[in-house]
Amino acid sequence: MPELTPVLDTDAIARKVDEVARQISSDYRNADLVIIGVLKGAFVFMADLIRRLDLSHVAVDFIRLASYGSQSNSSGHIRLLKNFEIDIEGKHVLIVEDILDTGWTLAFLKQHLSAYSPRSLKTCVLVDKRERRKVDVQAEYVCHVANEGFLVGYGLDYDENYRNLPGIFNLKL
Ligand code: IMP
Ligand code: MG
Repeated sequence: MPELTPVLDTDAIARKVDEVARQISSDYRNADLVIIGVLKGAFVFMADLIRRLDLSHVAVDFIRLASYGSQSNSSGHIRLLKNFEIDIEGKHVLIVEDILDTGWTLAFLKQHLSAYSPRSLKTCVLVDKRERRKVDVQAEYVCHVANEGFLVGYGLDYDENYRNLPGIFNLKL
């Protein structure tokens, strides 16, 4: 049986998501915001985050990527599976991603979205694994910083499993 060690329970996640939602609400006050979630990992986080935003003009869309690599490591070979559909030209755009690890995925996303000429482009991640960065990218909004281990639950998967767990756990691989 795979071993799961608790990292963040639902209360701890809610507090962190609240805090980041407060920052985003304050930074985008009076602005039109387009939030683009990265499927599938970000769907649970994004659902909680958008409902905590104190903003009146928020549009929501999704993008889906595939990354070739092992189950637990991204390879840098990233492919677009589904593009977003809202027109983002001249708009404030916020990428919502589950985990920022090597940075390959975010680097790809930033380049891809920039080509559509958004007015601004920032990133919000649930988990930032700073010590494993291979590309020089960072997220403006971070809920939780993790140093090691593979995390599952709250939308995060290992081989498509565990996304339904309400808390975040460390999976011993
Ligand atoms: P990066 O391209 O290395 O930054 O990887 C980011 C992507 O890898 C995220 O979108 C996640 O889907 C996946 N990933 C990285 N670390 C983990 C983890 O600990 N648990 C689940 N997915 C992860
Ligand atoms: Mg992902």
